[in-house]
Amino acid sequence: MDTVKLGRTGLDVSRLCLGCMSYGEPDRGNHAWTLPEAESWPFIHKALDLGINFFDTANVYSDGSSEEIVGRALKEFGRRDELVVATKVHGRMRPGPNGGGLSRMAILAEIDASLTRLGMDYVDLYQIHRFDPETPIEETLEALNDVVRAGKARYIGASSMHAYQFAKALSISERRGWARFSTMQNYVNLLYREEEREMLPLCREEGIGVIPWSPLARGRLTRDWDETTNRSQTDTFGRTLYADTAEADRKVVEAVAAVAAARGLPRAQVALAWVLQTSPVAAPIVGATKPHHLDDAVAALAVTLTADEIATLEAPYVPHAVTGFS
Ligand SMILES: NC(=O)c1ccc[n+]([C@@H]2O[C@H](COP(=O)([O-])OP(=O)(O)OC[C@H]3O[C@@H](n4cnc5c(N)ncnc54)[C@H](OP(=O)(O)O)[C@@H]3O)[C@@H](O)[C@H]2O)c1
Repeated sequence: MDTVKLGRTGLDVSRLCLGCMSYGEPDRGNHAWTLPEAESWPFIHKALDLGINFFDTANVYSDGSSEEIVGRALKEFGRRDELVVATKVHGRMRPGPNGGGLSRMAILAEIDASLTRLGMDYVDLYQIHRFDPETPIEETLEALNDVVRAGKARYIGASSMHAYQFAKALSISERRGWARFSTMQNYVNLLYREEEREMLPLCREEGIGVIPWSPLARGRLTRDWDETTNRSQTDTFGRTLYADTAEADRKVVEAVAAVAAARGLPRAQVALAWVLQTSPVAAPIVGATKPHHLDDAVAALAVTLTADEIATLEAPYVPHAVTGFS
C-alpha cells in the first residue's frame, strides 16, 4: 500500500482512507442502507489486510453506531499505534439546545462521547463536519485547540465549507498559536469539480491534506446512469447532491464507461484514479459495501490516466451549483 504524508504533518497515511459511514446499524440514525456490525467487520478486516491504516467515521453516522462498530473491529483486528482514526463533530446528536453544532460545550462533550463509543483514549484526526455559522469561529478553534492539548486528538481537520471560511480559520489559529487544521475533507469527484476553483488551490498553498469524500459520487460513477442499488434508492442525502445537472452528469458517467471499456478496467478504478491524480489529494475516502469494492480501490492506485483520457473524462462537465455544505 502506498503511503503519503498527510498535508504538511509528519503523519503517514495510506493513499486510501476507508469511509466508515457505510458501517452502522440501519435502524439507528438516517442511513437505512448501512451494513450492521456483523456485515461490517469483514470490510474493516480486509482494509487492514490490504495495508489501509486510515479510517474515517463521525459521531453522527448511524447515531453513533458507526463509531461503536469501527472501534470494536479495530480493537479486534488492528494495533492502535499503527492506526489513523478520524472522526467528526457538528451533526445533531440529540434534540433541543446544544444538541449539535460547534460551540465549546458541544465540542468538549462530543469528543468524550466519541472516544467512549470508539473505546479509545484519543483520535488521530478530529474534524469539524461542517461550518457552524451560529458559533464564533474563535470559540470553535479554541475548543479544538484544547482538545488537542488535552491529548484527545492529535490533529484537527475541517470538512466542506467555503474557501474564505477555511482561510479565515487557518489565519486565526496561526495568530493565536492554536492547533491549525491539517486536513480538508471535501466533496471532489468527476461529477462535482467546483472545489477546483478556490478550495484546492488554497489547500495546495497552505499544505493541507485533502481527503475527498464520496470520490465515486456515492456509486453513480461506477454504473449506468439509470441503474440503482439498495443504497442509491434509500440515500436521501445523496439525492440532494445531483439534482440540477442530470444531463451533463449522465455524459460524464458515459465518458467514464468509455475510458474504462477502452482500458478493460472497471469504471470504479477509472473514476477513483481521476481523484487520486487530482492535486493536492492525499487520500480519497472510499465507501465499500461489497467485497470487490476494496479490491478495485487498491487497483486504482496503479492506474495512471493519460492526458487524453483525463480530457475525455472532464469534457462533459458543466459548472454545478455549490452543494454538499449542508
Ligand atoms: N464529510 C462529509 O460530509 C462526508 C459526506 C459523505 C461521506 N463522507 C465520508 O466519505 C466516505 C465515503 O463516502 P461514500 O461511501 O459516499 O463514497 P464513494 O466511494 O463515492 O461511494 C461508495 C459507493 O460506491 C459504490 N462502489 C464503491 N466501489 C465500487 C466498485 N468497485 N464497483 C461498483 N460500485 C462501487 C457502492 O455503491 P452501492 O453500495 O450502491 O453498491 C459504494 O457504497 C464515507 O464513508 C464517509 O466516511 C463524508
